[in-house]
Parts: sequence; structure tokens; C-alpha cells
Amino acid sequence: MKTIIEPFKIKMVEPIRFTTVEERREILERAHFNPFLIHAEDVLIDLLTDSGTAAMSAAQWGAMMVADESYACSRSFFKFEKAVRDITGLGFIIPTHQGRAAERILFEIVGGEGKVIPSNNHFDTTRANIEYSRAEAIDLVIEEGKDPAALHPFKGNLDTAKLAALIREIGPDRIPLGMLTVTNNTGGGQPVSMQNIREVSELLHSFEVPFFLDACRFAENAYFIKLREPGFADKAPIEIAREMFSYCDGATMSGKKDGICNIGGFLAMNDSSMAEKARNLLILAEGFPTYGGMAARDMEALAVGLMEALDERYLEYRIASIDYFARRIREGGVKIVEPPGGHALYLDARAFLPHVPPSQYPGQALACALYETGGVRGVEIGGVMFGKQAEDGSGEALPPMDLVRLAMPRRVYTQSHVDYLAEVVLETYARREEIKGFEIAYQAPLLRHFTAKFRPAKEESR
Ligand code: F0G
Repeated sequence: MKTIIEPFKIKMVEPIRFTTVEERREILERAHFNPFLIHAEDVLIDLLTDSGTAAMSAAQWGAMMVADESYACSRSFFKFEKAVRDITGLGFIIPTHQGRAAERILFEIVGGEGKVIPSNNHFDTTRANIEYSRAEAIDLVIEEGKDPAALHPFKGNLDTAKLAALIREIGPDRIPLGMLTVTNNTGGGQPVSMQNIREVSELLHSFEVPFFLDACRFAENAYFIKLREPGFADKAPIEIAREMFSYCDGATMSGKKDGICNIGGFLAMNDSSMAEKARNLLILAEGFPTYGGMAARDMEALAVGLMEALDERYLEYRIASIDYFARRIREGGVKIVEPPGGHALYLDARAFLPHVPPSQYPGQALACALYETGGVRGVEIGGVMFGKQAEDGSGEALPPMDLVRLAMPRRVYTQSHVDYLAEVVLETYARREEIKGFEIAYQAPLLRHFTAKFRPAKEESR
């Protein structure tokens, strides 16, 4: 077996700026110890998100140059529609500027007071759009999916017994649709098996409840099915993806993930009356139905990118590079969410910094320490993001885990970048005892993690 190499050569490069440890300490202080507030120019390797950060291919840039920017019925729309239909088989394809715009439209149609939307795990924006419509978002991932150390090939699966119980309890009339997020970002980028997709579909359909996929990372999910599920080893990723979509009645998609684009997305479905409502809402806030929220050049790039994301060599390299990163830091004793997901590694910050209590945000402390050590930016997913002031004034209710997500942009970094990343994580681990916790100096009432300001925690408050 030979080394799995990047299946591309590099035609255009973008320099990255090196800084010293001293400079990074100052930068961190100026950013109030919140990596969201660090200027991207001061980041050496940026793993804040895999969303919209991909390197596009020569074929995508070429397609952009020949885009037809006509307002109505542009050639580029039909090319985009054909690509999406080829993969999903869905009848009505509605272009949006990104994933959450598709969610906003979908839940404006099917959401509302008293409605309940089950999923394995809803992503934040999906949940927010459901709740904004006054409906309720329910997460039904299997128990293994909640345990960072549990080894299971499909930790993103939905617990079908719990779904059946929910339907029996509240009745199918209150459930306008059921969802699965592939791969399950909130649960660590974990895949969902074909068997689970099929079973969830059959269960929902037996109660005449439509089934939608949040398909942001559908290609990575298809590749995990190929690697891990019996019967799929010899199938091409596109065949597996087509089968995944064959069980659903609709999908929301962010082209910023497995569309390998910097912007774009879509809402797709088979129900014509729902599509008509969606198009009417699209015109209100996004645009005419043949461009929605995108320029024609973005639709061109997405049409090409969706197919490139299904290229087996690309998927092999992508999953192998995350796996390689995981192996290197695991060997050094660092605990991660196991097994590593498709688009990111999640460091277990409580295990990394056992001397920093959850009330002092070990995830935030670790994210800052990684930046200080090597100019690497990740994102805290823990007490800062999900902590809530208890209503009885008894302090802060904290989530069960403190993680740092290191999300890998698509086709942007090479194996030597990954080697460097592993070195930074291990060097930070070697000096973990010096790393201190934080307290919040300022926070906004909603989504505080984006703008919060921190200061080092006082020793005596430990
Ligand atoms: N669904 C999932 C599973 C996502 O991961 C995201 C975005 C969305 C929907 C919304 O798509 O950003 O195009 O509006 N996730 C990004 C992330 C932001 O960093 O994981 P969008």
C-alpha cells in the first residue's frame, strides 16, 4: 500500500503569515482571548470551520468564467439543477445563498406552534430556524453517539425505537417531517448508515410523515458507508449517494461543505405544492427561482463541486488526512472524540486540561493555547457555546462536554500542514499544566461565543 497523496497539484497559492509566540500572545490579548476575534491574517492554519473555506478547482473557476448571468432561466441554473437532480433524484431544486436560507424557507412552510421536528442531531442553525417558527426540534441520536469514547462505525445513527415512541406519543399529525443530518456535525461529524437511513425513512413513511436529509456532508457520509457498511465496498460514492437520497422526500444543503464552494446551497423536494410555497418565499428574500441567493457563477461552481466531492480519490485523501492527524495525536496521549469524523477532529478539552474546571471553560483555554503555541485556530464547542445562566440564579448550567473542533477546509492543506498541526497539539499537550482557565468579561445575550470577551481566571476562584 502506497502513501495516500493529495490527489491534485497546486496551480495557485496563497501565502500564510508567520508570527512569533510573543506576537501571538499580544494578538490573543487584543482579541480578548476569543479566537473569533483574531484577524484571519494573523492565523497560520485556520481550522475554525470547513464551511465556505474550500479551494476550488481549475474546472470550477473555468465554469465560473462561462456563467450566464441572465436574471431569468439562465443556462447556469439548468446546469446546476441537472447536477443536483443527477445526485439526489429530487424533482424541485430551489437555489439559496447557503444552507440556513433553505432551512428558513422550509420551516416557515412546515414549522409553527405545536409542530415537532425529530432528527439525529439538528445543527445549530437548523434548530434555530425550527424554534424561530415556534416548532420544537428534537434530537434522537443513538446512545453511542453521545459518548466521545464509544467506538461505533455509525455514531450518527438515529435511535428508531425512540422515533417510533415519539410518533406514538404525540401523533404523526404534529410531525410535518423527520430529518437526518449526514454526517452528524453536532455529534462530531459522525456518519449515518444506509440501513439507518432506510429504517428512518420506512418508519416515517409508515405514518405518512415526509423525510428530509440535511445533506451538507452527503459525500463524506457516502464514503464512510463504502468503508464501513457491508455490501458497499465495491460501489462508487455517487451510487451510494443516489441510494441515500432515494429514501428521502427532500433535502436542505449548504454548498459551502460538500459542494466545495465558498457560498451557495439549495432546498430540494418532490412535493410540488411545497415547492410552489418555497419558491414564493424564495422570491421574497433570496431571489427569482432560477438563481435564488446565488450569482450564476456560484451555481456553475456548485454544479462542478458537487461532482468533485464524490470523486473517490478525493474522498480517500480527505478521510485519510483526518485519520492520520488523529493517529498522530492519539499516539501522544491526547483524547479525541472517537472515531474521528469526516470533516473535523474534536479534542476532549476536559481530558486535556483536567486542572481547569468546567466553570473556567477548558475548551476556550485549549483553543487559545493552540493559537499561542502554533498560530492554529480552532473553535470551542462547550461551556462558552452552550452554557446557560440557570433561571434560579444558581450560576451557570454547563454542557456535558468541552471540546475544541479542528475542522479541515477542503483541498487547502497538505500532509506537511497536518504534521505541523500534530506537532502543535502535542507541544501544547506537553505544556498543559501551565495552561489556565478563563472567566467571561463580556457576553452578548444570544450566541455569546461569537463576541464574548475573556480574562484569565483568578487563582482563588478555582
Ligand atoms: N447543517 C449543517 C449540518 C451544518 O454543518 C451547517 C453549517 C448548516 C446546516 C448551515 O449551513 O452555514 O451554509 O448556512 N455549518 C458550519 C460549520 C457553519 O462550521 O459547521 P450554512
